[in-house]
Amino acid sequence: MNFDDKEISFASWSRRRFMQMSAATAVAANLGSLAHAEASGSATMIDVPFQKKDPRVVLIGTGGRGTNLLQNLLAADAQMVGLCDLVKEKAEHAASLVVAAGQKKPELYTDGPHDFEKMLSRQDVDLVVIATPWVWHTEMAIFGMKHGKDVALEVPGVTTIEDCWKIVKTSEETRKHCMMLENCCYGYNETLILRMVHAGKFGELLYGEGAYLHDLREELFSTAGEGLWRRAEHLKRDGNIYPTHGLGPVANYMGIQRGDRFGYIVSMSTPQRGLDAYRKEHLKADDPRMAEKYVTGDMNTSMIKTVNGLTITVKHAVANPHPYDRINLIAGTKGVFQDYPPRIYLDGQNSDESWEPIDKWKEYQHPLWKTEGEIAQKLGGHGGMDYIMLYRLLQCVREGLPPDIDVYDTAAWSSVAPLSVASVSHGSAPVEFPDFTRGKWKQRKVSAIATQV
Ligand SMILES: NC(=O)c1ccc[n+]([C@@H]2O[C@H](COP(=O)([O-])OP(=O)(O)OC[C@H]3O[C@@H](n4cnc5c(N)ncnc54)[C@H](O)[C@@H]3O)[C@@H](O)[C@H]2O)c1
Repeated sequence: MNFDDKEISFASWSRRRFMQMSAATAVAANLGSLAHAEASGSATMIDVPFQKKDPRVVLIGTGGRGTNLLQNLLAADAQMVGLCDLVKEKAEHAASLVVAAGQKKPELYTDGPHDFEKMLSRQDVDLVVIATPWVWHTEMAIFGMKHGKDVALEVPGVTTIEDCWKIVKTSEETRKHCMMLENCCYGYNETLILRMVHAGKFGELLYGEGAYLHDLREELFSTAGEGLWRRAEHLKRDGNIYPTHGLGPVANYMGIQRGDRFGYIVSMSTPQRGLDAYRKEHLKADDPRMAEKYVTGDMNTSMIKTVNGLTITVKHAVANPHPYDRINLIAGTKGVFQDYPPRIYLDGQNSDESWEPIDKWKEYQHPLWKTEGEIAQKLGGHGGMDYIMLYRLLQCVREGLPPDIDVYDTAAWSSVAPLSVASVSHGSAPVEFPDFTRGKWKQRKVSAIATQV
């Protein structure tokens, strides 16, 4: 190719790029109407405490995750008064766990996909935990809030920008909370590093990275549990469809929605290859799953620029061989922490520019881990973080505190999935984040999880 050819090909590339950018502007404008949507005429839910009580809890979804949450809830003495699942045997098994914990058998709701409505219409229920497939999250959360229940919603929260606004609006109108159950925010390392960030150990923060790198191929093709619904998500969208495990802790370190907020996102994906390759090796040629067309790229890399200028990289890869990793990196003017394995490098601490283990920073261990760490680790759910999260949720309700992760966090963290999809589908163009707090992020305090108890 001679120089002129290069010029021509660059010109046609830029024309193509320009067309993509124009399309992206259209998308951004489209999202823009949602970006500036008035959530409701009602007051904010920022810093609004839970109504103080020992909550009566119900659970929708007694599958893999729901059962695990239930075991942790029971260990934290949650009063379980109702369980709902499409599959009666699963609900019965969950009920047996409640009885084994010394409580009365909770009422079961197993009469079809809308039986949760009967359970959530009860007057003697305060808090609903939702652990169902993603397509049900918004409907169940909204129904719960509209029927006077606080909501604890499994990750990845809700899946469209419209639904982000719907949960914000409903929370404000009903004065009920909608907390995302982002367990990774409650890990030992994450809570310790959060306290070090607040003690200024990393200086002024500059950038962070989070990821969900988890080989889910076997799970996605299993004929039980998540295999029944999660692979379908890979038929719908190309982007980071499960961003919050990596993102939540980094957002906490940076005080997102508390003096800063996500500004815009740029996202790109590799082609999809892993699920095709896996099924070729593991399924028979006439298996109906061989006809599925997966569109979610194997590795999605998104970059978020915050309004204050910080950057966050978020990755998602579940369809290739890879050791489990959430990266969990935070860096500032005085040092850097990165997980998997946990290691730290602080200015002036180490002469040979090598990482150090985090053990020597035990003094920053979170008070929740000091008091509850032993039981959390014995229970085991994701290294104990599941128990710490649920213990803390119950503590917030029992003591009448605001939730650590509120509806604005739930909406902002959830929004990364649809906004990354919008960016990918328009040539990785930048797409703006809505401000779900409508300006209130500016004067807001840091999350209580940073400083409590
Ligand atoms: N935070 C974490 O670490 C973590 C881990 C795993 C899963 N999850 C999340 O938990 C949720 C559930 O995942 P899972 O692994 O338990 O899946 P699962 O398939 O094992 O369980 C889902 C359950 O929901 C039930 N269900 C489906 N539709 C229903 C309806 N309309 N009414 C009542 N029950 C219904 C199913 O019968 C099933 O028992 C998902 O949002 C997933 O992303 C989070």
